[in-house]
Amino acid sequence: MGARLKYGLLLVFVVPCFCQNEWPVPYRRFPSRPQFNSYCQAGVVPFCPTGKASNTMPQFHDFDTIEVYALKAPVFEFKFGDLLGKFHIMHDAIGFKNVDTGFSYTLEWYELVELFNCTFAHTLQNDSMIWCNQGAACIYDGIDTKHWIENGTFVKVADITGDVFNKFADWVEWDNNTAIYYETWTVWDKPDGKMWFDSFDCASFVLRAFQKLADVGAKFNQSVRLNYTRINLYSDQPVYLGNETVVKADQSLYKNITDFYKKFQSHQSYQDLLTHLVEAYIEVFDQQQFYFFYNFEYWFLPMKSPFIKLTYLEVPLPKPNSTLYYRNKHF
Ligand SMILES: *[C@@H]1O[C@H](CO)[C@@H](O)[C@H](O)[C@H]1NC(C)=O
Ligand SMILES: *[C@@H]1O[C@H](CO)[C@@H](O)[C@H](O)[C@H]1NC(C)=O
Ligand SMILES: *[C@@H]1O[C@H](CO)[C@@H](O)[C@H](O)[C@H]1NC(C)=O
Ligand SMILES: *[C@@H]1O[C@H](CO)[C@@H](O)[C@H](O)[C@H]1NC(C)=O
Ligand SMILES: *[C@@H]1O[C@H](CO)[C@@H](O)[C@H](O)[C@H]1NC(C)=O
Ligand SMILES: *[C@@H]1O[C@H](CO)[C@@H](O)[C@H](O)[C@H]1NC(C)=O
Ligand SMILES: *[C@@H]1O[C@H](CO)[C@@H](O)[C@H](O)[C@H]1NC(C)=O
Ligand SMILES: *[C@@H]1O[C@H](CO)[C@@H](O)[C@H](O)[C@H]1NC(C)=O
Ligand SMILES: *[C@@H]1O[C@H](CO)[C@@H](O)[C@H](O)[C@H]1NC(C)=O
Repeated sequence: MGARLKYGLLLVFVVPCFCQNEWPVPYRRFPSRPQFNSYCQAGVVPFCPTGKASNTMPQFHDFDTIEVYALKAPVFEFKFGDLLGKFHIMHDAIGFKNVDTGFSYTLEWYELVELFNCTFAHTLQNDSMIWCNQGAACIYDGIDTKHWIENGTFVKVADITGDVFNKFADWVEWDNNTAIYYETWTVWDKPDGKMWFDSFDCASFVLRAFQKLADVGAKFNQSVRLNYTRINLYSDQPVYLGNETVVKADQSLYKNITDFYKKFQSHQSYQDLLTHLVEAYIEVFDQQQFYFFYNFEYWFLPMKSPFIKLTYLEVPLPKPNSTLYYRNKHF
């Protein structure tokens, strides 16, 4: 009776609100990757120019030996000027060397139309918004060791068998067909606090790929220590707003969202990227508001100090079937 009454009350008070109680909000996978919007153009660097065709991961003989490498290099946009020493904005990738065949491959996951384009919505003349935020995996022949060694990292993390690689390759195709969009930001309550949203970028791909390799049998060299870049935002508990249809129905809200994104519309040059990140900083610092887009839905972030911060912290190499790093450890 008491229990039923409580349950009834719960229904009355809980059902009418949108109650988000799982943090970080799980990244949504989609049944398939949609056609790419032709409005979204990459500009200088096309996506995966020398890559293999979709869903054609290499396959190896079960007993081949394959060396796995962790690769890091400064993000293209940040190579210019003397920014390199100040910020660790690194791009992460994975290298595979088949010792038996001599073939090697580079596997990376990144934005289809470059970082800045992909971080903010594009607002059009008629005030509609377009998101050019797809991210995807790219595998191509060879490892450009010089590129990764200079100012970056090139380190062996495991030896695996062809059989382990083939299982992993199937996963890469599944992951690529269901995880379709890139997310630049990680959102936290405070530094070392509760995570509201996890980023979904090149580094998170490498982390989940390494975890997958461990799950299907790879043994990582636990002495290798690797740090990963995060671009963090800090806010009080995010407020769910809804998908585009829902926010469009509220004119005042929709105007606020488009006004916010209009501030980040210069996609011309790489040098501008930093300027605009600084503008973003002022925007959220002054007005303490950020309209955040995740799983193709909008959230309001009541921003708070320190607002935005770059971190470059260590994440240990995985052990088989361990929980993904952020579930039990926050950084
Ligand atoms: C994306 O960025 C590049 C380089 O900054 C630019 O040339 C291109 O026009 C941008 N794409 C869109 C859709 O704004
Ligand atoms: C991932 O998807 C993109 C976009 O469709 C495609 O270009 C790429 O080849 C795919 N990668 C793999 C490894 O299948
Ligand atoms: C706004 O313009 C874009 C591109 O010109 C078009 O695709 C879209 O349908 C327009 N939206 C509205 C609501 O008129
Ligand atoms: C490495 O950094 C130096 C100094 O910033 C720069 O001159 C050089 O071009 C960089 N090399 C690569 C491959 O990015
Ligand atoms: C990880 O878990 C899966 C499913 O429970 C199991 O099939 C697999 O053998 C495990 N991997 C290792 C390396 O223990
Ligand atoms: C593991 O990594 C450490 C540190 O990089 C290295 O010194 C050692 O040789 C590696 N061990 C193996 C078996 O590769
Ligand atoms: C947007 O959200 C509303 C309310 O949750 C839902 O009914 C609608 O199907 C959603 N639209 C899309 C395109 O997902
Ligand atoms: C839009 O922004 C204005 C000014 O900050 C604010 O007064 C208003 O409440 C906002 N509207 C919505 C629906 O959030
Ligand atoms: C790597 O991360 C560790 C701890 O997470 C930190 O102490 C160290 O300074 C970082 N290394 C660099 C080069 O930032």
